[in-house]
Amino acid sequence: MDGNGRWATQRGLPRTAGHKAGAETFRRIATHCKNRGVRYLTVYAFSTENWRRSADEVRVIMGLLKRYLLEAVDTMERDHIRLHFFGDLTPLSPELRALARETDEITEHLAADDFQANVCLNYGGRDEILRAVRQFAADCTAGTCRPEDLDEGRFSGYLDSRGIPDPELIIRPSGELRLSNFLLWQCAYSEFYFTDTLWPDFDEAELDRAIAEYQKRDRRFGGVKK
Ligand code: FPP
Repeated sequence: MDGNGRWATQRGLPRTAGHKAGAETFRRIATHCKNRGVRYLTVYAFSTENWRRSADEVRVIMGLLKRYLLEAVDTMERDHIRLHFFGDLTPLSPELRALARETDEITEHLAADDFQANVCLNYGGRDEILRAVRQFAADCTAGTCRPEDLDEGRFSGYLDSRGIPDPELIIRPSGELRLSNFLLWQCAYSEFYFTDTLWPDFDEAELDRAIAEYQKRDRRFGGVKK
């Protein structure tokens, strides 16, 4: 959800106004994905590196997340929206962690094929891989698995995204042409869509354009065309 800060600065507003607008865009785009039959939407809300921002900016982003989770607790069952988190939630406030637990519990009661939004919070692709490796090593030490048994499928089961298919399409707004530590393992064969649009301006029509573009791609997964 990149470009919130620049969107606000261009309007002479504080960067935090961009995050507020960005949170609204997330709500609209999640609804649009659900209506279009997209099964999973994964958004990068806060990276392991975003703690370097000013205390005020971090506070506002956490406040927006809290507001969204409070709203979700009341509406996700009615709207059939599953919510899941990627990332290490331990450094988050006890309040946010409790809300995340609450939304996890609601998600468990929803149908497996309901639309699911994954929110990356204190997430970094490298951090996710390191946490997975640590857990696998601990399981080996405990004797529940052996290094020679590790394959891609088993390793995927140690990631935050376990049980969730790899992203088919990754959209990066705001003109940046990089991945910035997002889903490093999972993106091996993802298609990419880059746009100059700043996240608060990203709308349903642009999502439709990205999906139409994706539908034209020839996905070979390293094989040859049949
Ligand atoms: C990146 O733009 C955006 C973020 C680091 C924060 C995104 C978080 C929200 C929109 C909060 C709410 C989230 C949900 C899921 C309700 P940037 O600040 O790096 O933009 P810039 O590159 O223009 O400075």
